[in-house]
Amino acid sequence: MAESMKGLKRTHRCGELSAANVGEIVTVMGWVQKQRNKGGIIFVDMRDRAGILQVIFEESDCGSENFEKASTLRSEFVIAVVGKVEKRSGAVNENLSTGEIEIRATEVRILSEAETPPFPIEADSKTKEELRLKYRYLDLRRPDLQNNLILRSKISTTIRSYMAEEGFLEIETPILQKSTPEGARDYLVPSRVHPGSFYALPQSPQLFKQLLMCSGYDRYFQIAKCFRDEDLRADRQPEFTQVDLEMSFVDVDDVIATTEGMVAKVCKEAIGHEVQLPIPRMTWQEAMDRFGSDKPDTRFGMELVDVSKVVAGCGFGVFTGALENGGSVRGINVKGQAEMPRKKIDALVDFAKGYGAKGLAYLCVMPDGTYKSSFAKFMTEEELKTLVTAMDGCPGDLLLFAADKLKIVWSVLGALRCELAKQLEMIDPEAFNFLWVTEFPLLEWSDEEERFVAMHHPFTMPMDEDLALLDTDPGKVRAKAYDIVLNGVELGGGSVRIFQDDVQEKMFEVLGFTKEQAWDRFGFLLSAFKYGVPPHAGLAIGLDRFVMLLVKAENIREVIAFPKVKDASCLMTNAPDVVDDKQLEELYLQIVKEQEA
Ligand code: AMO
Ligand code: AMP
Repeated sequence: MAESMKGLKRTHRCGELSAANVGEIVTVMGWVQKQRNKGGIIFVDMRDRAGILQVIFEESDCGSENFEKASTLRSEFVIAVVGKVEKRSGAVNENLSTGEIEIRATEVRILSEAETPPFPIEADSKTKEELRLKYRYLDLRRPDLQNNLILRSKISTTIRSYMAEEGFLEIETPILQKSTPEGARDYLVPSRVHPGSFYALPQSPQLFKQLLMCSGYDRYFQIAKCFRDEDLRADRQPEFTQVDLEMSFVDVDDVIATTEGMVAKVCKEAIGHEVQLPIPRMTWQEAMDRFGSDKPDTRFGMELVDVSKVVAGCGFGVFTGALENGGSVRGINVKGQAEMPRKKIDALVDFAKGYGAKGLAYLCVMPDGTYKSSFAKFMTEEELKTLVTAMDGCPGDLLLFAADKLKIVWSVLGALRCELAKQLEMIDPEAFNFLWVTEFPLLEWSDEEERFVAMHHPFTMPMDEDLALLDTDPGKVRAKAYDIVLNGVELGGGSVRIFQDDVQEKMFEVLGFTKEQAWDRFGFLLSAFKYGVPPHAGLAIGLDRFVMLLVKAENIREVIAFPKVKDASCLMTNAPDVVDDKQLEELYLQIVKEQEA
């Protein structure tokens, strides 16, 4: 039977009370965490978003009716309690912010009863995530998720206030947009009014924020929902949030400085971490060469070493074969791991194969100076010695090599060093290593499409000194593009934009668009550029990822209230779902059943 809260007004959140409130009469409302009936005395732990509070019921304080009610309380009942704050009679609980006090209740009302939840509402739940996601509204009651979302809210507030201080205007851009190719797959929305036509949900506010620069708004930002129909991973969701910004009359350094200020302020205010500014910068080329990744985790070493020259002409066909095919041979030195069991090394080989490697060659420099290796028998003693020296190998080290096309070598060794660092616990869990990666290639060759595609997007400005290469060697052109990386995760990225029609037209040409196609798809932007466009640049930070890294969550779902799972469905609402035939008819849509194979 639910009671009314008439006549009661909450005075405090449960977790907000402390020794400073001793002696006060308070009214608190929240959920029953736990009830313990000790006969003449009933203990109730009450919970709300601020924390847990101990309440004590004794008949002499609250009378028989309230005492009777307290004896019926069960977990997750919603109650209101009036009582006096007192110093704890029993042991102080160091784990609770309210651990020094308790409430001696004079009245209790049961505002709502509750069935037994399908899993306990407590921190560090061992419950399977599927069940948690099905009952997300219960999962969200757990303190870890509440802390994450409270911090996320605080971070958004910090960002808004920083951006306002820096003279940015918060402007909303449309969610129903025109589909433009390039980038990830669009989510489409059929139009009822225009049969056969579709809107696309924004992958980012990119074009609109550039238009806002054309319109003179100078400094724009938005905490924007974005949608991408791509394969999900631990740090990806089909809908996610960007802190999106664009600035006029600026160059790379201005965007970087603004972003650094924001990131530093967020880290300071959210988790009390002081970011050393300026954040180090590294060119894309250096990042790839040293770490095999455009988002290097710089919390540990184990950098890649190019041994192509050293092994050229050696007796090991895998190495020389890769080199003859225009590839590369590179290695990493896993210090002190020469005695890694064979089974573990085999697992690393399989891991490498997952990244496209045909194999992984290993050389253990044993403590006694002998070698254990998958390829030593193909090389002379002299060749091996030179190779070990090139790898800075000492007795006790495990050397791992990949030989293939450079792109594969990078991806294999880049992933391997991260995996090994995790396995060998080489990563300082307290570190926050920020890094800028700059001078990305403008274009990337797509074997699938047999054309160049934009590495960032088609509006990214080439570096001044590489402009001429657009005609002669487009693959070599570097872009005024930059990513900000945190602990090996791409936190955000952006670029200086093309603002001259001739460069933009050239860019479309290199991307394989005819003039008509370019105008058909991006005409509104190209046209806007004809009426006076300021030089402009911008960037977007993935807010979900940022919060995820700051709270050290393993998965982006832990910082999103209602996330989706790997197949992009919502386990709580069962979205996406079929719709009525009538709805389809209105949209002039028909479902074509997949033909049986
Ligand atoms: P980009 O595509 O690099 O740039 O996206 C910017 C940042 O958004 C985050 N992000 C994601 N987060 C979660 N789930 C996803 N599926 C996902 N995809 C991207 C990443 C990424 O670094 N318009 C440009 C920015 C610009 O040039 O100003 C853009 O969208 O943290
Ligand atoms: P194989 O001659 O194919 O048995 O390979 C000998 C060793 O070289 C094995 O340890 C393989 O895992 C390794 N290997 C094979 N292909 C490559 C490659 N592309 N890069 C590095 N090592 C490789």
